[in-house]
Amino acid sequence: MQMAERSLVLIGFMGAGKSAVGRELSARLNLPRWDTDEMIRRRFGMSIPDIFATLGESAFRDEESRILHDWEAPAPAILVTGGGIVLRPGNVELLAALGRRIWLDADEETLWQRASRRATRPLLQDHNPRERFASLFQQRRLVYGAAADERVETAGLTISEVAARIIALP
Ligand code: S3P
Repeated sequence: MQMAERSLVLIGFMGAGKSAVGRELSARLNLPRWDTDEMIRRRFGMSIPDIFATLGESAFRDEESRILHDWEAPAPAILVTGGGIVLRPGNVELLAALGRRIWLDADEETLWQRASRRATRPLLQDHNPRERFASLFQQRRLVYGAAADERVETAGLTISEVAARIIALP
């Protein structure tokens, strides 16, 4: 199947580069880009930390599920997801139906270095963010592996190189 016949769904942990790679793929493949975090921010008119703080994580997760359920963008497109979208098994099934699921992966330290540059992640607003990061990373690896069609290594690669690897997938 040609790369552009199906949507590409980017999954992976915080710091994997999903948003930046999504933008690059959208430009190179000339496909529309949808980003679940952006859609949720727009829908609630609040930042993600504010949504978590005022409405709670479950409201955020409900909205993630709702977006996937209602998503009717004409394929193909690039769908960028938040790192926790795979936590609900129902979401994983919906993602499979939406497109080819690409897991952007890297070693824990690389992901931490990237993710800790910005303080925009409520799950890292913890008394020990590094430890929280490590524990979430361990919990989630198997979930991403099970939810993905392809795993793409991103450590040491530029955004442009990662996008090129995805485009070159057989
Ligand atoms: C989350 C990751 C974030 C965002 C929210 C929850 C997670 O997206 O959806 O803060 O559970 O891993 P990024 O993966 O783009 O950081």
